[in-house]
Amino acid sequence: MDLEEALADIAEMIADTSTLVRAVLSGKRRNMNPSSQRVDIRPVLLKESIVLHVMENDGIRTTAKNFLPSELNIRELLESGYANILAESTSRSLSARISKKGQALVHEEKKVAEQNLSHDRSKKRLLDSADPYLVKIGISDSAGNIKPSRQDKFRQVEEFLRILEPTLDSSLSAGHLSAPTAEKPLTIVDLGCGHAYLTFAAHQYLTKKSTPVHVIGIDIREESRLRNEKIAKELQIDNTIEFQAGEISRLPAQPVDVAIALHACDTATDDALAWAVKSGAAMILAAPCCHHDIQKQMKDSPQPWGIVTRHGLLKERMGDLLTDAIRAQILKLLGYRVDTIEFIAGEHTPRNLMIRGVRTGAAADPAEVEKYLDLIGEWQLKPALAVRLSEELSAVGVTT
Ligand SMILES: C[S@@+](CC[C@H](N)C(=O)[O-])C[C@H]1O[C@@H](n2cnc3c(N)ncnc32)[C@H](O)[C@@H]1O
Repeated sequence: MDLEEALADIAEMIADTSTLVRAVLSGKRRNMNPSSQRVDIRPVLLKESIVLHVMENDGIRTTAKNFLPSELNIRELLESGYANILAESTSRSLSARISKKGQALVHEEKKVAEQNLSHDRSKKRLLDSADPYLVKIGISDSAGNIKPSRQDKFRQVEEFLRILEPTLDSSLSAGHLSAPTAEKPLTIVDLGCGHAYLTFAAHQYLTKKSTPVHVIGIDIREESRLRNEKIAKELQIDNTIEFQAGEISRLPAQPVDVAIALHACDTATDDALAWAVKSGAAMILAAPCCHHDIQKQMKDSPQPWGIVTRHGLLKERMGDLLTDAIRAQILKLLGYRVDTIEFIAGEHTPRNLMIRGVRTGAAADPAEVEKYLDLIGEWQLKPALAVRLSEELSAVGVTT
Protein backbone atom coordinates (compact mmCIF):
# COMPACT_ATOMS: atom_id res chain seq x y z
CA MET A 1 0.00 0.00 0.00
CA ASP A 2 1.49 3.40 -0.89
CA LEU A 3 1.08 6.62 1.12
CA GLU A 4 -1.81 7.91 -0.95
CA GLU A 5 -3.78 4.68 -0.47
CA ALA A 6 -2.89 4.53 3.21
CA LEU A 7 -4.08 8.10 3.87
CA ALA A 8 -7.33 7.46 2.01
CA ASP A 9 -7.86 4.30 4.04
CA ILE A 10 -7.01 6.07 7.33
CA ALA A 11 -9.40 8.94 6.47
CA GLU A 12 -12.18 6.39 5.98
CA MET A 13 -11.33 4.67 9.25
CA ILE A 14 -11.53 8.00 11.10
CA ALA A 15 -14.80 9.00 9.45
CA ASP A 16 -16.45 5.70 10.38
CA THR A 17 -17.39 6.49 13.98
CA SER A 18 -19.17 3.15 14.34
CA THR A 19 -15.80 1.32 14.35
CA LEU A 20 -13.11 3.94 15.05
CA VAL A 21 -11.20 3.32 18.29
CA ARG A 22 -8.63 6.12 18.02
CA ALA A 23 -6.26 7.96 15.70
CA VAL A 24 -3.01 9.69 16.56
CA LEU A 25 -1.04 12.13 14.42
CA SER A 26 2.37 13.21 15.62
CA GLY A 27 5.84 14.35 14.54
CA LYS A 28 6.60 16.75 11.74
CA ARG A 29 7.45 16.05 8.12
CA ARG A 30 10.48 17.81 6.70
CA ASN A 31 9.72 21.39 5.58
CA MET A 32 6.13 21.14 6.73
CA ASN A 33 4.41 22.83 9.64
CA PRO A 34 1.41 20.99 11.05
CA SER A 35 -0.67 23.13 13.44
CA SER A 36 0.24 21.11 16.54
CA GLN A 37 2.72 18.57 17.84
CA ARG A 38 0.16 15.84 18.36
CA VAL A 39 -3.47 15.23 17.57
CA ASP A 40 -5.54 12.54 19.28
CA ILE A 41 -8.90 11.68 17.79
CA ARG A 42 -11.49 9.36 19.27
CA PRO A 43 -15.21 8.84 18.97
CA VAL A 44 -17.38 10.09 21.82
CA LEU A 45 -21.09 9.59 22.36
CA LEU A 46 -22.75 12.97 22.97
CA LYS A 47 -26.49 12.88 23.54
CA GLU A 48 -27.75 10.82 20.58
CA SER A 49 -24.85 11.05 18.13
CA ILE A 50 -21.24 9.98 18.00
CA VAL A 51 -18.80 12.83 17.38
CA LEU A 52 -15.06 12.98 16.80
CA HIS A 53 -13.30 14.32 19.89
CA VAL A 54 -10.15 16.02 18.57
CA MET A 55 -7.45 16.88 21.10
CA GLU A 56 -4.54 18.99 19.88
CA ASN A 57 -1.34 19.59 21.82
CA ASP A 58 1.04 22.34 20.69
CA GLY A 59 3.76 21.38 23.14
CA ILE A 60 2.42 23.66 25.88
CA ARG A 61 -1.36 23.50 25.86
CA THR A 62 -3.95 20.89 24.97
CA THR A 63 -7.19 22.01 23.39
CA ALA A 64 -10.15 19.79 22.59
CA LYS A 65 -13.10 20.17 20.26
CA ASN A 66 -15.89 17.90 19.02
CA PHE A 67 -16.80 17.57 15.35
CA LEU A 68 -19.36 15.64 13.39
CA PRO A 69 -17.35 13.56 10.87
CA SER A 70 -18.82 15.70 8.06
CA GLU A 71 -17.53 18.89 9.73
CA LEU A 72 -13.89 17.79 9.92
CA ASN A 73 -11.67 17.93 6.85
CA ILE A 74 -9.88 14.71 7.67
CA ARG A 75 -7.84 14.48 4.45
CA GLU A 76 -6.56 18.02 4.89
CA LEU A 77 -5.55 17.24 8.49
CA LEU A 78 -3.78 14.01 7.44
CA GLU A 79 -1.86 15.84 4.71
CA SER A 80 -0.93 18.87 6.81
CA GLY A 81 2.54 17.58 7.66
CA TYR A 82 2.44 14.93 10.42
CA ALA A 83 5.16 12.30 10.11
CA ASN A 84 3.44 9.53 12.09
CA ILE A 85 -0.18 8.65 11.58
CA LEU A 86 -1.99 5.80 13.28
CA ALA A 87 -5.61 4.75 13.11
CA GLU A 88 -7.17 1.90 15.05
CA SER A 89 -10.59 0.45 14.45
CA THR A 90 -12.37 -2.38 16.22
CA SER A 91 -10.81 -4.90 13.81
CA ARG A 92 -7.44 -3.53 12.62
CA SER A 93 -4.77 -0.88 12.94
CA LEU A 94 -3.08 1.00 10.12
CA SER A 95 -0.05 3.20 10.55
CA ALA A 96 2.02 5.32 8.19
CA ARG A 97 5.45 6.67 9.03
CA ILE A 98 6.76 9.22 6.59
CA SER A 99 10.53 9.52 6.38
CA LYS A 100 12.57 12.72 5.87
CA LYS A 101 12.77 11.83 2.19
CA GLY A 102 8.99 11.64 2.03
CA GLN A 103 8.91 7.85 1.76
CA ALA A 104 6.12 6.07 3.60
CA LEU A 105 6.38 2.98 5.74
CA VAL A 106 2.87 1.60 5.98
CA HIS A 107 1.97 -1.13 8.42
CA GLU A 108 -1.35 -2.87 8.71
CA GLU A 109 -2.30 -5.29 11.45
CA LYS A 110 -5.44 -7.23 12.25
CA LYS A 111 -6.32 -6.73 15.88
CA VAL A 112 -9.49 -6.57 17.90
CA ALA A 113 -10.04 -3.50 20.06
CA GLU A 114 -13.04 -2.09 21.88
CA GLN A 115 -14.51 1.36 21.43
CA ASN A 116 -14.82 3.50 24.54
CA LEU A 117 -17.37 6.17 23.74
CA SER A 118 -17.56 7.69 27.19
CA HIS A 119 -16.80 11.38 27.44
CA ASP A 120 -15.16 11.16 30.84
CA ARG A 121 -12.21 8.85 30.61
CA SER A 122 -10.74 9.71 33.98
CA LYS A 123 -8.97 6.85 35.72
CA LYS A 124 -11.18 4.13 37.10
CA ARG A 125 -11.33 4.37 40.89
CA LEU A 126 -9.93 1.32 42.67
CA LEU A 127 -11.39 2.13 46.05
CA ASP A 128 -14.96 3.07 46.85
CA SER A 129 -14.85 6.10 49.15
CA ALA A 130 -18.06 4.91 50.86
CA ASP A 131 -16.55 1.53 51.80
CA PRO A 132 -17.08 1.22 55.58
CA TYR A 133 -13.40 0.54 56.30
CA LEU A 134 -12.43 3.92 54.77
CA VAL A 135 -14.89 5.59 57.14
CA LYS A 136 -13.48 3.63 60.10
CA ILE A 137 -9.86 4.49 59.36
CA GLY A 138 -10.73 8.16 58.97
CA ILE A 139 -10.22 8.65 55.23
CA SER A 140 -13.94 9.17 54.50
CA ASP A 141 -16.60 10.99 56.50
CA SER A 142 -19.78 9.30 57.71
CA ALA A 143 -21.51 10.16 54.41
CA GLY A 144 -18.84 8.23 52.50
CA ASN A 145 -17.02 11.24 51.05
CA ILE A 146 -13.25 11.54 51.21
CA LYS A 147 -12.38 14.14 53.85
CA PRO A 148 -10.65 17.13 52.26
CA SER A 149 -7.66 16.69 54.58
CA ARG A 150 -7.31 13.04 53.54
CA GLN A 151 -7.59 13.49 49.75
CA ASP A 152 -3.85 13.25 49.16
CA LYS A 153 -3.41 10.20 51.37
CA PHE A 154 -6.35 8.49 49.66
CA ARG A 155 -4.77 9.15 46.27
CA GLN A 156 -1.36 7.92 47.44
CA VAL A 157 -2.88 4.70 48.74
CA GLU A 158 -4.91 4.15 45.60
CA GLU A 159 -1.96 4.77 43.27
CA PHE A 160 0.23 2.52 45.42
CA LEU A 161 -2.32 -0.27 44.94
CA ARG A 162 -2.47 0.47 41.23
CA ILE A 163 1.20 -0.56 41.08
CA LEU A 164 0.98 -3.36 43.62
CA GLU A 165 -1.70 -5.22 41.68
CA PRO A 166 0.02 -5.69 38.27
CA THR A 167 3.39 -6.31 39.96
CA LEU A 168 1.73 -9.05 41.97
CA ASP A 169 0.07 -10.51 38.89
CA SER A 170 3.29 -10.58 36.89
CA SER A 171 5.26 -12.04 39.83
CA LEU A 172 2.65 -14.80 40.09
CA SER A 173 2.66 -15.56 36.39
CA ALA A 174 6.49 -15.49 36.22
CA GLY A 175 6.61 -17.95 39.13
CA HIS A 176 8.43 -15.51 41.47
CA LEU A 177 5.53 -16.02 43.85
CA SER A 178 3.35 -19.08 44.37
CA ALA A 179 -0.40 -18.69 44.08
CA PRO A 180 -1.85 -17.83 47.50
CA THR A 181 -4.35 -20.22 49.07
CA ALA A 182 -6.49 -20.11 52.20
CA GLU A 183 -3.88 -22.34 53.92
CA LYS A 184 -0.94 -20.32 52.59
CA PRO A 185 -2.17 -16.78 52.06
CA LEU A 186 -0.15 -14.00 50.50
CA THR A 187 1.77 -12.35 53.34
CA ILE A 188 2.17 -8.61 53.11
CA VAL A 189 4.08 -6.57 55.66
CA ASP A 190 3.61 -2.79 55.78
CA LEU A 191 6.64 -1.25 57.45
CA GLY A 192 6.09 2.10 59.20
CA CYS A 193 2.35 1.74 58.70
CA GLY A 194 1.26 4.68 60.92
CA HIS A 195 -2.53 4.97 60.78
CA ALA A 196 -2.51 1.96 58.44
CA TYR A 197 -4.37 3.57 55.55
CA LEU A 198 -2.35 1.53 53.05
CA THR A 199 -2.34 -1.58 55.26
CA PHE A 200 -6.14 -1.73 55.52
CA ALA A 201 -6.62 -0.74 51.88
CA ALA A 202 -4.27 -3.50 50.64
CA HIS A 203 -6.06 -6.03 52.86
CA GLN A 204 -9.55 -5.00 51.79
CA TYR A 205 -8.73 -4.54 48.12
CA LEU A 206 -7.08 -7.95 47.72
CA THR A 207 -9.67 -9.71 49.86
CA LYS A 208 -12.41 -8.26 47.68
CA LYS A 209 -10.56 -9.69 44.68
CA SER A 210 -10.63 -13.10 46.40
CA THR A 211 -6.88 -13.17 47.04
CA PRO A 212 -6.26 -14.87 50.41
CA VAL A 213 -4.02 -12.50 52.40
CA HIS A 214 -2.41 -12.13 55.75
CA VAL A 215 -1.38 -8.52 56.33
CA ILE A 216 0.87 -7.21 59.09
CA GLY A 217 1.35 -3.54 59.91
CA ILE A 218 4.43 -2.52 61.87
CA ASP A 219 4.97 0.86 63.50
CA ILE A 220 7.19 2.10 66.24
CA ARG A 221 4.24 3.74 67.98
CA GLU A 222 2.23 1.68 70.42
CA GLU A 223 -0.76 4.02 70.05
CA SER A 224 -0.88 3.18 66.33
CA ARG A 225 -1.00 -0.52 67.14
CA LEU A 226 -3.83 -0.01 69.65
CA ARG A 227 -5.86 2.16 67.27
CA ASN A 228 -5.34 -0.11 64.27
CA GLU A 229 -6.10 -3.30 66.19
CA LYS A 230 -9.34 -1.79 67.49
CA ILE A 231 -10.44 -0.94 63.95
CA ALA A 232 -9.50 -4.42 62.69
CA LYS A 233 -11.66 -5.97 65.44
CA GLU A 234 -14.57 -3.69 64.66
CA LEU A 235 -14.31 -4.65 60.99
CA GLN A 236 -14.08 -8.31 62.06
CA ILE A 237 -10.96 -8.86 59.99
CA ASP A 238 -8.53 -9.30 62.87
CA ASN A 239 -7.93 -12.93 61.90
CA THR A 240 -6.21 -11.83 58.66
CA ILE A 241 -4.71 -8.46 59.60
CA GLU A 242 -2.52 -7.79 62.60
CA PHE A 243 -0.46 -4.96 64.00
CA GLN A 244 2.79 -4.92 65.91
CA ALA A 245 4.53 -2.05 67.70
CA GLY A 246 8.28 -1.94 67.37
CA GLU A 247 11.27 -0.60 65.54
CA ILE A 248 11.68 -2.12 62.12
CA SER A 249 15.41 -2.64 62.72
CA ARG A 250 14.59 -4.87 65.69
CA LEU A 251 12.05 -6.93 63.83
CA PRO A 252 13.35 -10.49 63.31
CA ALA A 253 13.44 -11.69 59.69
CA GLN A 254 10.43 -13.86 58.87
CA PRO A 255 9.02 -15.33 55.66
CA VAL A 256 7.13 -12.68 53.70
CA ASP A 257 5.85 -12.41 50.14
CA VAL A 258 5.45 -8.66 49.78
CA ALA A 259 7.08 -5.88 51.78
CA ILE A 260 5.57 -2.42 51.40
CA ALA A 261 6.55 0.92 52.91
CA LEU A 262 4.91 4.24 52.25
CA HIS A 263 6.89 7.22 53.48
CA ALA A 264 8.81 5.48 56.25
CA CYS A 265 10.95 8.35 57.57
CA ASP A 266 14.58 8.73 56.45
CA THR A 267 16.55 5.57 57.34
CA ALA A 268 13.37 3.74 58.40
CA THR A 269 13.08 3.09 54.65
CA ASP A 270 16.56 1.51 54.79
CA ASP A 271 15.44 -0.54 57.79
CA ALA A 272 12.40 -1.64 55.78
CA LEU A 273 14.43 -2.57 52.70
CA ALA A 274 17.02 -4.42 54.78
CA TRP A 275 14.34 -6.34 56.65
CA ALA A 276 12.63 -7.23 53.36
CA VAL A 277 15.88 -8.56 51.85
CA LYS A 278 16.80 -10.53 54.96
CA SER A 279 13.28 -11.97 55.04
CA GLY A 280 13.53 -13.02 51.39
CA ALA A 281 10.56 -10.88 50.26
CA ALA A 282 9.57 -11.80 46.71
CA MET A 283 8.40 -8.25 46.07
CA ILE A 284 9.35 -4.93 47.61
CA LEU A 285 7.50 -1.68 47.00
CA ALA A 286 8.91 1.26 48.92
CA ALA A 287 8.08 4.93 48.48
CA PRO A 288 10.75 6.70 50.53
CA CYS A 289 10.18 9.79 52.63
CA CYS A 290 12.81 12.36 53.59
CA HIS A 291 16.51 11.58 52.94
CA HIS A 292 19.01 12.85 55.48
CA ASP A 293 21.56 10.05 55.83
CA ILE A 294 23.45 10.56 52.56
CA GLN A 295 22.95 14.34 52.55
CA LYS A 296 24.78 14.57 55.87
CA GLN A 297 27.67 12.55 54.41
CA MET A 298 28.07 14.68 51.26
CA LYS A 299 30.93 16.80 52.58
CA ASP A 300 33.58 16.52 49.86
CA SER A 301 31.86 16.11 46.53
CA PRO A 302 34.03 14.50 43.87
CA GLN A 303 34.73 17.11 41.20
CA PRO A 304 33.14 18.38 39.08
CA TRP A 305 30.01 17.67 41.19
CA GLY A 306 30.90 20.64 43.37
CA ILE A 307 29.16 22.83 40.82
CA VAL A 308 25.94 21.07 41.84
CA THR A 309 26.46 20.72 45.58
CA ARG A 310 27.55 24.34 46.12
CA HIS A 311 23.83 25.13 45.80
CA GLY A 312 21.99 23.99 48.93
CA LEU A 313 18.80 23.06 47.13
CA LEU A 314 20.58 21.13 44.40
CA LYS A 315 22.76 19.38 46.97
CA GLU A 316 19.62 18.23 48.74
CA ARG A 317 18.13 16.88 45.51
CA MET A 318 21.42 15.25 44.56
CA GLY A 319 21.39 13.61 48.00
CA ASP A 320 17.90 12.26 47.33
CA LEU A 321 18.96 10.90 43.94
CA LEU A 322 22.12 9.30 45.28
CA THR A 323 20.22 7.73 48.19
CA ASP A 324 17.60 6.09 46.01
CA ALA A 325 20.03 5.12 43.25
CA ILE A 326 22.23 3.43 45.86
CA ARG A 327 19.22 1.66 47.39
CA ALA A 328 18.15 0.43 43.96
CA GLN A 329 21.68 -0.74 43.14
CA ILE A 330 22.04 -2.63 46.42
CA LEU A 331 18.76 -4.46 45.78
CA LYS A 332 19.95 -5.25 42.25
CA LEU A 333 23.24 -6.69 43.55
CA LEU A 334 21.25 -8.83 45.98
CA GLY A 335 19.14 -10.51 43.32
CA TYR A 336 16.24 -8.14 42.71
CA ARG A 337 15.05 -6.74 39.41
CA VAL A 338 14.60 -3.10 40.31
CA ASP A 339 12.99 -0.07 38.80
CA THR A 340 12.16 3.35 40.14
CA ILE A 341 8.87 4.92 39.20
CA GLU A 342 6.75 7.95 39.99
CA PHE A 343 3.78 6.21 41.56
CA ILE A 344 1.64 9.33 41.74
CA ALA A 345 1.58 12.84 40.28
CA GLY A 346 3.72 15.35 42.15
CA GLU A 347 0.80 17.54 43.21
CA HIS A 348 -0.42 14.83 45.62
CA THR A 349 2.97 14.44 47.29
CA PRO A 350 6.50 15.55 46.42
CA ARG A 351 7.59 12.14 47.83
CA ASN A 352 6.32 10.38 44.76
CA LEU A 353 9.16 8.05 43.88
CA MET A 354 8.77 4.34 44.38
CA ILE A 355 11.50 1.72 44.41
CA ARG A 356 10.08 -1.52 43.12
CA GLY A 357 12.03 -4.75 43.43
CA VAL A 358 11.06 -8.23 42.34
CA ARG A 359 13.34 -11.00 43.54
CA THR A 360 14.74 -13.03 40.65
CA GLY A 361 17.73 -14.45 42.50
CA ALA A 362 20.04 -13.36 39.66
CA ALA A 363 23.71 -13.42 40.65
CA ALA A 364 25.41 -10.06 41.10
CA ASP A 365 27.19 -8.89 37.96
CA PRO A 366 30.83 -8.02 38.90
CA ALA A 367 30.63 -4.96 36.61
CA GLU A 368 27.66 -3.70 38.63
CA VAL A 369 29.53 -4.37 41.89
CA GLU A 370 32.37 -2.27 40.47
CA LYS A 371 30.04 0.59 39.54
CA TYR A 372 28.52 0.57 43.02
CA LEU A 373 31.94 0.61 44.66
CA ASP A 374 33.09 3.42 42.35
CA LEU A 375 30.05 5.52 43.25
CA ILE A 376 30.28 5.19 47.00
CA GLY A 377 34.09 5.43 46.83
CA GLU A 378 34.05 8.69 44.89
CA TRP A 379 31.50 10.28 47.19
CA GLN A 380 33.01 8.63 50.28
CA LEU A 381 29.66 7.35 51.42
CA LYS A 382 28.61 4.74 53.92
CA PRO A 383 24.96 4.23 52.92
CA ALA A 384 22.62 3.22 55.74
CA LEU A 385 21.28 0.31 53.68
CA ALA A 386 24.79 -1.01 52.99
CA VAL A 387 25.56 -0.97 56.71
CA ARG A 388 22.40 -2.95 57.43
CA LEU A 389 23.09 -5.44 54.65
CA SER A 390 26.88 -5.65 55.02
CA GLU A 391 26.93 -9.46 55.34
CA GLU A 392 24.72 -9.99 52.32
CA LEU A 393 26.76 -7.50 50.29
CA SER A 394 30.08 -8.98 51.23
CA ALA A 395 28.75 -12.37 50.05
CA VAL A 396 28.41 -10.91 46.54
CA GLY A 397 31.82 -9.24 46.55
CA VAL A 398 31.06 -5.84 48.03
CA THR A 399 33.65 -5.23 50.70
CA THR A 400 34.25 -1.72 51.93
C1 LIG B 1 5.26 9.56 57.51
S1 LIG B 1 4.55 8.31 58.42
C2 LIG B 1 3.81 7.30 57.18
C3 LIG B 1 2.75 6.39 57.72
C4 LIG B 1 2.01 5.55 56.70
N1 LIG B 1 2.86 4.60 56.03
C5 LIG B 1 1.29 6.43 55.70
O1 LIG B 1 1.75 6.56 54.57
O2 LIG B 1 0.27 6.99 56.08
C6 LIG B 1 5.95 7.34 58.92
C7 LIG B 1 5.62 6.28 59.96
O3 LIG B 1 6.78 5.51 60.19
C8 LIG B 1 6.88 5.23 61.57
N2 LIG B 1 8.30 4.97 61.86
C9 LIG B 1 9.33 5.84 61.74
N3 LIG B 1 10.47 5.24 62.05
C10 LIG B 1 10.18 3.96 62.38
C11 LIG B 1 10.95 2.84 62.75
N4 LIG B 1 12.27 2.91 62.87
N5 LIG B 1 10.31 1.68 62.99
C12 LIG B 1 8.96 1.58 62.85
N6 LIG B 1 8.19 2.61 62.48
C13 LIG B 1 8.78 3.78 62.23
C14 LIG B 1 6.34 6.48 62.24
O4 LIG B 1 5.89 6.22 63.56
C15 LIG B 1 5.21 6.87 61.30
O5 LIG B 1 4.00 6.31 61.69
